[in-house]
Amino acid sequence: MFTKQTIKDIDLEGKTVLLRADYNVPISNGIILDDFRISQSLPTVKFLLSKNVKLIICSHLGRPDGVKNDIDSLFPVAKKLQYFLKQPVQFVPDCLSDEVPKIITKMVPGSVLLLENLRFYAEEEQNNEEFARHLASYADIFVQDGFGVVHRAHASTSAVTHFLPSVAGLLLEKEVDTISNVMENPQRPLMAIIGGAKIADKIDILHRFIEIADVVAIGGAMANTFLASQGVKIGKSLYDEKELPIARDVIRKAGSQVKKRDFKFILPFDVVVSKEISNTQPTRIVDLKTHSYAEINNYPKRPPLNSFHILNDDIVLDVGPFSGSFIAGNIQFCKTVIWNGTMGVTEVDSLLGSVGPYSHGTDLIVKAMVGEFGNTPFSVVGGGDTVSYVTSHKLLDCFDLVSTGGGASLELMAGRRLPGVEALLNKNV
Ligand code: ADP
Ligand code: 3PG
Ligand code: MG
Repeated sequence: MFTKQTIKDIDLEGKTVLLRADYNVPISNGIILDDFRISQSLPTVKFLLSKNVKLIICSHLGRPDGVKNDIDSLFPVAKKLQYFLKQPVQFVPDCLSDEVPKIITKMVPGSVLLLENLRFYAEEEQNNEEFARHLASYADIFVQDGFGVVHRAHASTSAVTHFLPSVAGLLLEKEVDTISNVMENPQRPLMAIIGGAKIADKIDILHRFIEIADVVAIGGAMANTFLASQGVKIGKSLYDEKELPIARDVIRKAGSQVKKRDFKFILPFDVVVSKEISNTQPTRIVDLKTHSYAEINNYPKRPPLNSFHILNDDIVLDVGPFSGSFIAGNIQFCKTVIWNGTMGVTEVDSLLGSVGPYSHGTDLIVKAMVGEFGNTPFSVVGGGDTVSYVTSHKLLDCFDLVSTGGGASLELMAGRRLPGVEALLNKNV
């Protein structure tokens, strides 16, 4: 159960509210490439506006390290919000500007102001009390709804709560509640699928899943590190050399869980390789496991030697079709599936407009998770690139929770405390 007060628990009528959102969205040449985080914040924004508040929204964008620049401006977000809300959204190009209090005085209840990127001030990431006090001086109440950033103790997630009554927004409540429930009380069997490239960020959560899940499957560049740790030659593939001992440790732990209980740890046993990352290069499947089976059965007849080896100039770019199907098959027997990290380099589009050359593994998993093969488990998806894959394939509604958080959802799943949530008022019980 979510133990923090939310915007449903307090009197908001006619108040001035400072809302922290996570509008850290990909923008290129002023165009928002993925508005998922903005659209997901709308229920909270609309709820607040329905209470006739003067709404001041703040957020960070990118990592400008305290230096103002055009690329990380939130101005395109103001335009997008205006489009979604069908009402004007004022924008101030400096979150500490003297203009802000004057604008707020003139604002009518039910109107919206978006402040420029908080990280244009280094004080934001330093969790600076004075910076936070300045932001807090604009409002009567602070609402935290930026789930994607609550794992950071910054001025707008932590220090600001020292100066205002601080409660959660609806998105924060939904995300924390759903993820905590799944981790504490999952419908079993529980499966975790971990892929992607940010290996170091995901090691902690792997340890946790090996203890609590019934099936753990590894894909993406993460799997390359595990394969390399087992002595498999992986050519020019992306992997993390520093993490090799940790990968060995994870495999050892997984092995001891397999002995203790009904637990399955899946590493890819075939992979898709290519000589470079492009949609015009030929791909090849390398079978890492069934060599002896193939020899005994003389199948496939006269296999090319390179079917069983990753060559020095090969790059592993996806899990192979045997492994992808095996993971998809396991999804069929699970009641809950948590997925973070693509199985391959899904950014490369297909020349033919169908599934990209390194997206087949991810595609199989998505199909299995959303019920294409019959079983529809409770499904939780997180991670920037993973969620982009889901949104770009218009599959958002097919999952039970598509998290707006990357690091935040991983830390919550790993059982860490989230400073931005801890700081909020407790429910009166
Ligand atoms: P998320 O953003 O979903 O949290 P990550 O950022 O950890 O996940 O990983 C997604 C990225 O991993 C994508 O950019 C994808 O191209 C990359 N990736 C997946 N598999 C591989 C691979 N075999 N080699 C290189 N990059 C990979
Ligand atoms: C994210 O995109 O994960 C959040 O917005 C947090 O951003 P950060 O990793 O730069 O703190
Ligand atoms: Mg990513």
